[in-house]
Amino acid sequence: MSAPPAPLFPLDDLAQAETALWSRLGRAVRDRRSPWHTPAVATTAPDGAPRARIMVLRAVDRSSGLFRLHTDARAAKAADLAATPRAALLFYDPGAKLQLRVEGPARVETATPAADLAWAATRPFSRRCYTAPHPPGSTAPAPTSGLPPELESREPTPAESEAGRPHFAILLVESVRLEFLFLAVTGHRRGCFDRSEAGWQGRWLIP
Ligand SMILES: Cc1cc2nc3c(=O)[nH]c(=O)nc-3n(C[C@H](O)[C@H](O)[C@H](O)COP(=O)(O)O)c2cc1C
Repeated sequence: MSAPPAPLFPLDDLAQAETALWSRLGRAVRDRRSPWHTPAVATTAPDGAPRARIMVLRAVDRSSGLFRLHTDARAAKAADLAATPRAALLFYDPGAKLQLRVEGPARVETATPAADLAWAATRPFSRRCYTAPHPPGSTAPAPTSGLPPELESREPTPAESEAGRPHFAILLVESVRLEFLFLAVTGHRRGCFDRSEAGWQGRWLIP
């Protein structure tokens, strides 16, 4: 009889689970096809209502707990975070049957060295959305991409793309808690990691 296949996620070792989570997150940044490349990002609207939207994960750092995403500084989420500087990220990989929740203080930066660095690493095509003259979410008189007409069907030149810089922002989540749920026929596993000065401290939870 052959041995049963290895589970897709560590079932009984928290240190291995922590390493597996960060390794998946690192891959999700690099791999556009990873289901974890586009988490749901939740904020709190000024009236207290929860608000979630899909965003692209741009960078993660295990030791600082920092998650970086990019957005338009005029978007509603920026106002949400100015009023309530906390966010939650939600990832799910249906193939791996692995859910991850991430929580922590969050902020939007527009004119900082970190935002400058992120902008410098962004390609002209990705910069195009930031050249929209009107804020995202504002009412439009007709169906529209919101883009300047001359950029509708082409990539901006590097010089043209600079028009987007004032609107470009990085959204930083300083995660303090990671919580995973792994679904397995042999029994689900749930655990969490809390970040302190000593690093990430893990514990198991009842699924
Ligand atoms: C696949 C996908 C990826 C997206 N990536 C981003 C992103 O990286 N940054 C962003 O601000 N919005 C992104 N959006 C759009 C957001 O989901 C949202 O519609 C928009 O940011 C406005 O959100 P807000 O009004 O809550 O600020 C993406 C949407 C989809 C469907």
